[in-house]
Amino acid sequence: MNHIQPLLSEEEIRDRVIALAAEIAPQIQPGTVIVALLKGAFIFAADLLRELSRHEPEINLDFMVLSSYGDDTRSSGRVMIKLDCQQLVENQDVLLLDDILDSGNTLTFAKEHMRIKGAVRVYTCVLLDKPSRRQTPFKADFVGFTIPDRFVVGYGIDYAERYRELPYIGCLTD
Ligand code: IMP
Ligand code: MG
Repeated sequence: MNHIQPLLSEEEIRDRVIALAAEIAPQIQPGTVIVALLKGAFIFAADLLRELSRHEPEINLDFMVLSSYGDDTRSSGRVMIKLDCQQLVENQDVLLLDDILDSGNTLTFAKEHMRIKGAVRVYTCVLLDKPSRRQTPFKADFVGFTIPDRFVVGYGIDYAERYRELPYIGCLTD
């Protein structure tokens, strides 16, 4: 039986998302294509976009599904495209949104993929960063929270498709 130890409360997440939107808005151009990585970033993207709309009215949203994890808690190191974004990103700026920056494999791949598709500038924003877990050097442009090497769930983030619905973020413990 797994237990969830609270790490970030609903209120802490909300305050940080509001601040992130204020930080991001002046740094991106109107019309930037925001590409959220599913499924993990779906709640973060929904909240961040509504906050961004207070600053930046021209937002273009798309999604991409990548996978590097099976139902495991460790990265396989290989990233596969399960669903590519539908919008043309050629000659556009792109802001990639992900839930967690862990090994760095996913965002390294996604950023390169956007460049190959012809994006001009590719920014990255993650809700959570676990810098101690990097396998590929990677620095996100915008980070919600830097957290220790713990396996977390909630606020869109799962363990084997469970716990995405939790409104807070917690650490999975035995
Ligand atoms: P990376 O390629 O290792 O940076 O993988 C990032 C992806 O791994 C995230 O988008 C998550 O889907 C998944 N991931 C990394 N750490 C965790 C965690 O603590 N809980 C759940 N998923 C995680
Ligand atoms: Mg993910």
